Amino acid sequence: MLELADVDAFYGNSRALQNINLRVGAGEFLSVLGRNGVGKTTLMRSILGLMDRVTGRLLLDGADISFLRTDQRAKAGIAYVPQGRGILPRFTVRENLMLGTFAARASKGLEEWVMELFPILKEFLHRPGGNLSGGQQQQLAIARALLAQPKVMLLDEPTEGIQPNIVEQIEEVITRLNREHGITVVLVEQNVAFARRSSTRFALLEKGRVVAKGDIAELSDELIHRHMAV
Ligand SMILES: Nc1ncnc2c1ncn2[C@@H]1O[C@H](COP(=O)(O)OP(=O)(O)OP(=O)(O)O)[C@@H](O)[C@H]1O
Ligand SMILES: [Mg+2]
Repeated sequence: MLELADVDAFYGNSRALQNINLRVGAGEFLSVLGRNGVGKTTLMRSILGLMDRVTGRLLLDGADISFLRTDQRAKAGIAYVPQGRGILPRFTVRENLMLGTFAARASKGLEEWVMELFPILKEFLHRPGGNLSGGQQQQLAIARALLAQPKVMLLDEPTEGIQPNIVEQIEEVITRLNREHGITVVLVEQNVAFARRSSTRFALLEKGRVVAKGDIAELSDELIHRHMAV
């Protein structure tokens, strides 16, 4: 469903990704792993059309999307939960959620099934997003992305900086979105245990390149030691 072929990505003249070849099938769950600064967020930004320049091919359901603007990619079915969550702090929870609906091809507003996943958001609809805890903001960011009615959801370190007791809830929701709702997931993570529990596939990055990829069962301790341990 989502395919990157020979992708390079640039910040100005500086190449941050080199020769990326990745494929995520419909309903799959790909975890992108790697140390700080290897290019994980850059990979997400490349898929969304947020880089200065990207070369190579980017296909969604077989169609070339590399010439689409970011908003057109959203309407085509790619949603994003950015690193750091990207909540608008002065906007209410409701207003933040509405931003997600604007990105949908045929929005049905604050869809009940999404609101049911996150009861706390229903309760806090009229509070400013900035007043929510980190974990609640992460739930808001995920709900906002879901309201865009994605086929594929990109999540960049969704458990980073979140209280341990909430991390489990966030992990559970992400896993359910994939397994029960059939949403294809591309997850950036440093938490290997979560990646192993949730994923079908993995890719390991090092210095802007994919150095290993495969079925999640092939993600050995040796690979993790070599490419993730500090
Ligand atoms: N706006 C930018 N302009 C120039 N270079 C950048 C920019 N953002 C990131 N880079 C560089 O691109 C490389 C990849 O950064 P990126 O943010 O994609 O890494 P990451 O794997 O997401 O790291 P982290 O785990 O810390 O989030 C790094 O060398 C970084 O310094
Ligand atoms: Mg990052």
